[in-house]
Amino acid sequence: MRSVAGAGVVVTGGGSGIGAALARRFAAEGARVVVNDIDADAAAAVAASCGVVPVPGDAASEEGVAALIGAARAELGEIDLYCANAGIVRGGGPETADPDWDASWQVNVMAHVRAARLLLGPWLERGDGHLICTVSAAGLLTMPGTAPYSVTKHAALAFAEWLAVTHAHRGLTVQAICPLGVRTGMLDGSDPAAEAILGDSVIQPEAVADAVIKGMADGRFMILPHPEVAAMYAGRAADPDQWLAGMNKIQRYVEDPQSE
Ligand SMILES: NC(=O)c1ccc[n+]([C@@H]2O[C@H](COP(=O)([O-])OP(=O)(O)OC[C@H]3O[C@@H](n4cnc5c(N)ncnc54)[C@H](O)[C@@H]3O)[C@@H](O)[C@H]2O)c1
Repeated sequence: MRSVAGAGVVVTGGGSGIGAALARRFAAEGARVVVNDIDADAAAAVAASCGVVPVPGDAASEEGVAALIGAARAELGEIDLYCANAGIVRGGGPETADPDWDASWQVNVMAHVRAARLLLGPWLERGDGHLICTVSAAGLLTMPGTAPYSVTKHAALAFAEWLAVTHAHRGLTVQAICPLGVRTGMLDGSDPAAEAILGDSVIQPEAVADAVIKGMADGRFMILPHPEVAAMYAGRAADPDQWLAGMNKIQRYVEDPQSE
């Protein structure tokens, strides 16, 4: 799908940040939108702000995804575009407790798997379907400070790639949004390490929505609201050791800004 006008669209985690910006932008472009969030009040407020339909609930659990997709189909008919956008950041390194690792897997990865399970049948049958996964530059590179986020975002990217590889010739379009820092509830300026790493590159969620509209028009798999991420990703592939050394330099700077 190159344009959302008239399309039936679901946005998970649409109660704030990037999801809210996507829902509002899609509505402004003439889409019929269902806004999901686990925070029912947030979903209702965003839906009211742009005249669309809230469907609150957990977009990660098997039952939650089934309820969301069922309610969205009742509202929209078949879903044309599903934006698997909800995501969470938890923990630090391997010491992070299992419940936080598990929550990261559930929301950042299994939410996408479970949605695909229910969406693919009708989409492949009609030869048309569009999935946009909000991944992160952390899924292409890594995010110093949080292993669960880095690992699960790599997995989310791998799953999106797998779907594209397997079903592109059957009418499935898959795209992955991979921003660096975006000023949202997840990156509210209160974490000095995140601010030190992302610095001046932080953008507003509306800029991500702009990049998504442009990315849908050009149809490329990777949507990069920060274009510089393409060179970083290429650098990682071209020389992993040099890339790791550069990332370790960032880690040392976060630990001690005088280390430069
Ligand atoms: N903010 C950034 O710098 C940044 C950068 C790259 C990628 N991302 C990704 O963007 C996506 C959106 O995050 P954001 O930055 O807008 O953060 P945010 O915290 O503002 O929004 C995330 C929303 O998802 C909702 N949510 C969490 N778990 C849910 C669940 N199980 N079911 C339904 N809703 C759920 C939250 O209630 C919240 O409203 C995430 O996948 C995140 O990893 C964010």
